[in-house]
Amino acid sequence: MEITKIKEKFEELYGPGAAFYTSPGRINLIGEHTDYNGGFVLPGAVDKALYVAIKANGTDKVRAYAPDENPDKVAVSSEFGLEEANRPKERWAQYIFGVAREMTKRGKKINGFDIVISGDVPLGAGMSSSAALESAVGFALNDIFNLGFDRFELALIGQATEHNYVGVKCGIMDQFASCFGKEGSLIRLDCRSLEYEYVPFNPKGYKLVLINTRVAHMLGGEYNERRESCERVVAAIAKKHPKIEFLRDATLDMLKDVANQVSSLDYIRAEFVIEEIQRLLDACEALKKDDYETVGKKMYETHTGLSRKYTVSCDELDFLNEIAKECGVTGSRVMGGGFGGCTINLVKAELYDAFIAKATKAYKEKFAIEPLVYDVVIKDGARKL
Ligand code: GLA
Repeated sequence: MEITKIKEKFEELYGPGAAFYTSPGRINLIGEHTDYNGGFVLPGAVDKALYVAIKANGTDKVRAYAPDENPDKVAVSSEFGLEEANRPKERWAQYIFGVAREMTKRGKKINGFDIVISGDVPLGAGMSSSAALESAVGFALNDIFNLGFDRFELALIGQATEHNYVGVKCGIMDQFASCFGKEGSLIRLDCRSLEYEYVPFNPKGYKLVLINTRVAHMLGGEYNERRESCERVVAAIAKKHPKIEFLRDATLDMLKDVANQVSSLDYIRAEFVIEEIQRLLDACEALKKDDYETVGKKMYETHTGLSRKYTVSCDELDFLNEIAKECGVTGSRVMGGGFGGCTINLVKAELYDAFIAKATKAYKEKFAIEPLVYDVVIKDGARKL
């Protein structure tokens, strides 16, 4: 469907001969705001993805078109050069520009190209639509210009694009999941060493479902501030323990030691992160034993931490979390960066229908918005089509 759409549009605008690439959004079972703290995450690529049609155009310009970029579906096009001074105005086009610039900075030659982008990763839903875009463009440019980057480098190029061209000082989770996703498996990623392991995920008798509050989040200042809090706490701890590079290395006792050297806000944020890293490790142990009840319990604890300590939840997400609890859902929490987007819910198959019916109805009554429901299907990462 998406392919037919972008193929037709590409031919209409730029002629025949495009190549096609795709890169997915992601879920994360547990381990939130741990990636930029050198900790672990447990994401998986999903069946919602970005698609690009692309072809070198023999000039030094990019012509880009994104038929469904903005919420009101007004088609958007952008044209820009590839020098640092040519940064396009349109936010979506800055991702393309950023990826090309980051590749250039790594010593590669990128020439002009035509590109059409479309997809069904909901924007601002905490499912990494931006990482999907960066990875799809990264894969495409790598291939059509024969640049020779591997998947690790492509993930890092996507992350650098966020840092340097979007202004979000994100961790590596989203881009890694987009680039390394594998059908049927979650990825247990050590965000410090980038060592990873595929964890087959097929919870018998349970379903994994996302509920989108449709409160669109835009990660930026609030996200970066939390990262800075973590860095300040690390700096305080490192005065006494010079080997501590990330909160991942710190213990709650080390944190207590610096309680009077950091603000109470920084303290509570760091406490959440240290606890969350441990929660992920505990959840991974439980997963090995197919103990989904423990995994679910950890997910609720994560939600409470994200809501009360890290303060990245919102009324809509907290409401859905409460409903999940009332319905006997095994695990539920805000997913991704927060400030809106989706809850991720691990629910017994026999409770699924009642939960979805109740959550949808109650949410609509309370907020006058119909939430969107996505059953999670774990799929492969970025690739050529
Ligand atoms: C966003 C960022 C990720 C990660 C999550 C929170 O999705 O892009 O790097 O920090 O938030 O876990």
